[in-house]
Amino acid sequence: AGKYAVFGHPIAHSLSPQIHQAFAKQFGLEVDYRTIDAAPEAFEAAVRAFFADGGHGANVTLPHKTAAFALADERSEAAQRAGSANVLTRLPDGRIAAHNTDGDGMVRDLTDRHQLDLRGHDALLLGAGGAAHGVAWSLLDAGVNTLTIVNRTPEAADALADAIGDPARAHTRYWEDLDDLGSFDLIVNATSAGVLGKSLNLPFGFVGVRATCYDLSYGKSAADFLGWARAANARYVVDGLGMLVETAADAFELWHGKRPDTEPVYQTLRRQYG
Ligand code: ATR
Repeated sequence: AGKYAVFGHPIAHSLSPQIHQAFAKQFGLEVDYRTIDAAPEAFEAAVRAFFADGGHGANVTLPHKTAAFALADERSEAAQRAGSANVLTRLPDGRIAAHNTDGDGMVRDLTDRHQLDLRGHDALLLGAGGAAHGVAWSLLDAGVNTLTIVNRTPEAADALADAIGDPARAHTRYWEDLDDLGSFDLIVNATSAGVLGKSLNLPFGFVGVRATCYDLSYGKSAADFLGWARAANARYVVDGLGMLVETAADAFELWHGKRPDTEPVYQTLRRQYG
């Protein structure tokens, strides 16, 4: 079956081992899946050692997704668009392939689990870092009408919009103008403010009547944004727990050729995370 791991820093609290073990159980598979803590300067050597030592696949989380993309020999289109990778797979000839399942996982969580049809939605993307790059193209692929990208540092938002290259649909506005942007149907928090323990202090005005507010993180990191969304009377308030399970399912299928049932695994985690 091969060896599998998730690389991060820190990584001790990662849910990936639990998720992959639960998926494996659905098929009666024994999977060796461990966490590997690697500081940024040690990441590439640790990945190469892992694959040289019989590793078959690795998930990659913060802060290594860009480095994972850079060290790969082959890169999927999703990874190329995001400029980062959350999945590394050893190819039969020993080369390493990079893939990114974040955007597809998020959209599947919204459309399949939460039954939201994103077509025609005007979407607001908060943030323009790695996480925002991971989901921007998938939101457009899912049929959002417009994607407005707003970032504290405007240059990063412009760079993301330029990379998308679809000015009729994807454009930027200034963070200082958040009060004046009108309302949105989908608001995605892709900033790392919550992870850093900072509050975004967002105005209520841009939460439209049918708005979904989605945080890419979960647990404590998502609490500030989700609390704001509830106070703003958003129709749906969703954290990134479902996305995490969906992205893991894509990696599992890539490695094992079997599609796991994400719902029972999601429900178990939801009971743990409230
Ligand atoms: P990640 O991989 O989690 O996306 P990142 O690439 O470092 O991490 O990106 C962090 C994002 O969160 C950026 O868009 C950052 O804005 P800047 O480009 O201005 O740095 C945003 N961010 C972090 N803390 C923030 C805060 N307190 N308020 C607003 N945006 C914040």
